[in-house]
Amino acid sequence: MHIGDPKNTEDNIYVLGIESTSHTFGIGIVEYNSRKKSLKIIANEYDRYVPAKGGIHPREAALHHTRVAPQVLKKALEKAGTKITDINAIAVSLGPGLGPCLRVGASLARFLASYYKIRLVPVNHAVAHIEIGKYLFNFKDPLIIYVSGGNTLIAIQKKKKYRVLGETLDIPLGNLFDTFTREIGLSPPYVVNGKHQIDICAEWGKEFIPLPYTIKGSDLSFSGLLTAALIQAKKHINNKVELGNICLSLRETAFNMLVEVAERSLVLTRKKEVLLVGGVASNKYLREKLVIMTKMHEAKYAGTPPEYAGDNGAMIALTGFLGYVHGVYIEPEKAFIRQRWRLDEVELPWLPNQ
Ligand code: FE2
Repeated sequence: MHIGDPKNTEDNIYVLGIESTSHTFGIGIVEYNSRKKSLKIIANEYDRYVPAKGGIHPREAALHHTRVAPQVLKKALEKAGTKITDINAIAVSLGPGLGPCLRVGASLARFLASYYKIRLVPVNHAVAHIEIGKYLFNFKDPLIIYVSGGNTLIAIQKKKKYRVLGETLDIPLGNLFDTFTREIGLSPPYVVNGKHQIDICAEWGKEFIPLPYTIKGSDLSFSGLLTAALIQAKKHINNKVELGNICLSLRETAFNMLVEVAERSLVLTRKKEVLLVGGVASNKYLREKLVIMTKMHEAKYAGTPPEYAGDNGAMIALTGFLGYVHGVYIEPEKAFIRQRWRLDEVELPWLPNQ
């Protein structure tokens, strides 16, 4: 018997989740109350790496994670009022993500699991973004729109897996906004007072200008849009209103493309719930468009709030709990990272069979 295994069915279950796929090092803890049969997030601590200039430098981000890991772990355990020996399972995000960053989380998980003899649950980062959204809104079978710096896709659950109906063929939506604002000298930082630079810049604009709008079936392509917007922006780099028009038009075009693809999938699948997850879920302009679209089709809409939309440890702990109670654990020495671990490769025993 492992140290953390519940002694009897009356014991509460604690799962600690480690997130380190990209710029965030996070530790979350969930508690399952066996008597009330309720699951609660009791800690969600993190420290984010912010590059001095340019995009994320994987090795620098990994160094950041190594430096902050002990402190974030300590804070999370204190916040939850637990000791490491109370923890039943260590869940870790093993991919997809940046290799050097993933290795920090995986090493910590392997150490904690083998030293304290605690179960180790592998978690796919994309699955975790979806599970936390479903948990927060008690959604059972939503159409999922997952948008972040590293992903843009539409998915549904079917036969114990999340199935991708449409996705970006080149760059993800978050990456489009980060790259554009960086290239025109506005970022980093990418987010100021909770607002992305693309939204700050869009406020300077007054009118919409046409830019490439590329949908292929249910897939999306943003690279032509980025190139065209950059060519325009570089011509008007010192004209705030013109630059604002381009930011506004870039954002509107990208969001309209995504909403069109989501609407097609919604009509096709006839789902009654639409769930927006991932870092870009905090964007109010995208939210507004999705609210209108889902209302037209009489579906319920929900978007993950900022605290849980970006990368965080709580979503890993929560998904780890689902894995733990369904017997999904591995030996610590088998906890290898998978940089390109796709959402639709993962078989999930807690999803329905149909
Ligand atoms: Fe993420």
